[in-house]
Amino acid sequence: MARTILLGVTGGIAVYKSVSLVSLLKKRGYDVVVVMTRGAERFVTPLLFQTMSRERVYSDPFEEADPSGIAHIDVADRADLVVVAPATANVIAKLAHGIADDMLSTVLLAATAPVMIAPAMNVHMYRHPAVQANLALLTARGYHFLEPDEGPLACGYTGKGRMMEPEAIVEAIEDYFSGRLVLASPNPDPLLAVRRREKAGERVPMADVDVPSPAPGAGVPSLQAVHDAPLSGRRVVVTAGPTREAIDPVRFLSNRSSGKMGYALAAAARRLGAEVVLITGPTNLPPPEGVKVVRVERAREMHAAVMRERETFDWFIAAAAVSDYEPAVVEAQKIKKSGEALTLMLVPTPDILRDVGQRKKPHQTVVGFAAETNDVVEHARNKRRRKGADWIVANDVTEPGAGFEVETNRVVLVGPNDALYPLPLMSKEDLAETIIRTILAFQSMPPAEDAGGEKTSGERSIDEERAGKGRTGGDAR
Ligand SMILES: Cc1cc2nc3c(=O)[nH]c(=O)nc-3n(C[C@H](O)[C@H](O)[C@H](O)COP(=O)(O)O)c2cc1C
Repeated sequence: MARTILLGVTGGIAVYKSVSLVSLLKKRGYDVVVVMTRGAERFVTPLLFQTMSRERVYSDPFEEADPSGIAHIDVADRADLVVVAPATANVIAKLAHGIADDMLSTVLLAATAPVMIAPAMNVHMYRHPAVQANLALLTARGYHFLEPDEGPLACGYTGKGRMMEPEAIVEAIEDYFSGRLVLASPNPDPLLAVRRREKAGERVPMADVDVPSPAPGAGVPSLQAVHDAPLSGRRVVVTAGPTREAIDPVRFLSNRSSGKMGYALAAAARRLGAEVVLITGPTNLPPPEGVKVVRVERAREMHAAVMRERETFDWFIAAAAVSDYEPAVVEAQKIKKSGEALTLMLVPTPDILRDVGQRKKPHQTVVGFAAETNDVVEHARNKRRRKGADWIVANDVTEPGAGFEVETNRVVLVGPNDALYPLPLMSKEDLAETIIRTILAFQSMPPAEDAGGEKTSGERSIDEERAGKGRTGGDAR
């Protein structure tokens, strides 16, 4: 049976290339259903796509020609693969934020197939931090981007932003259907196949409704899970939980960290294929499966355990809430109540993030956390520089649903060149994977210079940041 490609077409000059894309796909035997935005219709008529595809073209979510169904759901359900080409900055932003205000954006939320997106826009639009943040967010959610080419653009500029050529898009589509390119849906529905059979009038036996786990190495990726392992072959060290600084044999200084974020990060890194070492302070959490756990109490024990791993890790994620101070003296006997005021002398604990960040090797990625109560971004940017970290995950712990002892968190990532990547409120499990995938997406992006970017004098390039050049020592003030 022919595969169905749902082709989203938006309002950019590169629309003319989508016409030949439809023609190439039809020649290879695909069914192509085109969904156009109003912007796209200003460039070419739906009649052209209808003639090329031999299918009805959709653009108005309220045009319900078939009373037996709802068009945007039926169209979404037909797709074996969704391709948006060209994808404007506008449709990318809408998808990143879940906006459904026309036929295409609505279908994109309803679709459960994998999605390929071919951005096309002016070089400055493509480089804009908002567009880059949306691309990173969507990549982290599992959308597959077909990188724009560099070259002369219709707007007169030369740079990155030209839509990938139709032949190369067809190649990516064929790679996907032949199993060479493994993609998972950002929004999977394991029962889609069953629903399709029922829609076709078939009575589906219960046995078929049980979704079997895919055989290892099966060509078609599971609809249930992302099967890629972008951290495979890498060693990830995560710290988690609070530390306890003993005052005497029964008392200690500690904080309200539950360890959930660090444990979720360790589990996510493992899921994404890494060998994971979790160095944890005292928590009540079960250790994540497949992760090596090192238990510590005091900040200096955590520091020593991290330093032992310093040479071998590829990623270090410092999610523990490490005490900044410890009592200068730990009393051997329980301090007796005297009724008088008691003064405790506290001294600083070793700075784990700084000691790792300042000595890190070029291939190592160092991620710190900043739990703040005010001026979150400014504090996080300063911390990133001071400690020599690549990334700081910052959150405002006074915000509802964020910070300690809650199931959710809202953070902003501060990355190389102080770029900001705000992430929405999410469960700590989802957030953990999103943080890792966002950083990976950033690392796999071509250097900024490729986009024709000019460097502010005195600023390190993203390239240098990525290679870790010039970070050691000099960055810590
Ligand atoms: C001549 C012309 C060319 C355009 N080319 C692009 C483009 O290549 N990429 C882009 O993101 N926007 C481009 N735009 C702007 C979009 O059409 C505009 O942002 C529109 O709101 C997009 O709507 P849509 O995403 O619903 O199609 C262009 C506009 C005009 C008038």
